[in-house]
Amino acid sequence: MHTMSHTRTLPARSDHAPSIAIVWGSSTGYTEEVALKLHQRLADATSTIVDIGETEVRDLLAFDVLILGVPTWNIGEFQDDWEYCFDEWATLDLRDKKVALFGCGDAKGYPGYFQDAMGILWRQLEARGATLIGKWPTTGYDFDESQALAPDGNHFVGLAIDEHNQYELTDQRLDRWAQQLEAELDLRPVAAAIPALVSAV
Ligand SMILES: Cc1cc2nc3c(=O)[nH]c(=O)nc-3n(C[C@H](O)[C@H](O)[C@H](O)COP(=O)(O)O)c2cc1C
Repeated sequence: MHTMSHTRTLPARSDHAPSIAIVWGSSTGYTEEVALKLHQRLADATSTIVDIGETEVRDLLAFDVLILGVPTWNIGEFQDDWEYCFDEWATLDLRDKKVALFGCGDAKGYPGYFQDAMGILWRQLEARGATLIGKWPTTGYDFDESQALAPDGNHFVGLAIDEHNQYELTDQRLDRWAQQLEAELDLRPVAAAIPALVSAV
């Protein structure tokens, strides 16, 4: 029989904190670096970090939330590891998945194709039933066109990182985006539970 314990239940997190994978593909290391920084910021949410080049896409179905790091290469194309697995996403049922995207791109070098891969991947996932979280405003970016725009035209489908032209903004963008994801996923940082812990003693 289950008896009520005298310990107060802490309002720390929901009983079923979602499992989160941060999945990156990267050819010159930028997206990997951003993924690691995001992982540090989401550490309270016990996220797992995964190299898409070293995993089976199907295995990612074990997670509730997928945060996908997708650089754009070769003028509006995928980075190689994402290119190799792109078709496989079309075979998956993603109706119970929440997906956030972040991309690395170069707005000055490729202003007509800024962050395209992030948008192309999202449309594939949307067709499989995934729910998008983590949209990000286009304010503060200087580009001409992007396949990664959300339907409202004022947001990207995910966080746009530009390490070539706006590297000084990356950390603060990640800070804000991590907080946004925590809010959208209803995650409560562990720090918020500490006063409750103290008062429960
Ligand atoms: C040949 C080449 C093509 C690129 N094409 C695009 C592009 O179409 N759109 C874009 O936003 N960035 C483009 N980029 C910039 C990359 O996305 C950027 O360098 C990114 O940081 C690479 O990330 P990674 O090191 O994780 O692979 C291109 C870079 C190179 C070298």
